[in-house]
Amino acid sequence: MTGVDVKMDVQQFDRMAREVFAPAYVSIAEQIKEKTGITQGICLDVGSGGGYLDIALAGMTDMVFFLLDQSNEMLDIAKRNILESHLEKRLFTLHADVQSIPLDRESVDLVISRGSVFFWENKIRAFGEIYRVLRPGGRAYIGGGLGRPEIREQIRAKMLQIDKNWSWRRNGNGDNQENYREALKKACITNSSVTKGEVGTWIEMWK
Ligand SMILES: C[S@@+](CC[C@H](N)C(=O)[O-])C[C@H]1O[C@@H](n2cnc3c(N)ncnc32)[C@H](O)[C@@H]1O
Repeated sequence: MTGVDVKMDVQQFDRMAREVFAPAYVSIAEQIKEKTGITQGICLDVGSGGGYLDIALAGMTDMVFFLLDQSNEMLDIAKRNILESHLEKRLFTLHADVQSIPLDRESVDLVISRGSVFFWENKIRAFGEIYRVLRPGGRAYIGGGLGRPEIREQIRAKMLQIDKNWSWRRNGNGDNQENYREALKKACITNSSVTKGEVGTWIEMWK
């Protein structure tokens, strides 16, 4: 993995995504739809992993999705999930690093990302790339969370059943709202906000 050197057991993460986090993806997809209001055009998911958020959002919108991830192993899982969901005409994988997105400027209506921003080494560059590909009228919704509070609690209870010593993992690379604001400022993205609420911390950009 390039970027911040965080070791992730891909198969283990995918098992958790399927067996524990599954309800969170539907909740976050609803949150994205409500917050951005974008339901048509091109959606880019940065650090898509197995594509569970995209599959949930595809069921609520008419968008075409690019699932970008730097891990081929994750994208292999995404490809399997796309075929299982019969969404191969709308969901496409893209092997790339967020710090260098292989898409034209102003070609994307909606950028989404969940649980990936913590790993991006150069957030100024990553935010700049996301803003570059956004179309006028487009929006980005990037962050981390598990959806509505009751779903988060449901997931917490499940995790504690699996491991009684489990606690929300802290990211050790200095991520906080102020760091995100600073990176957005350095990337000259004034059309942006960072909010921490009961559904997690989310960065929004608009053009
Ligand atoms: C914790 S997983 C989250 C996956 C998915 N978004 C989800 O919520 O299930 C983080 C993902 O971000 C990807 N990732 C990390 N840094 C990246 C980068 N610089 N560019 C693209 N993908 C990246 C990882 O490969 C991994 O698939």
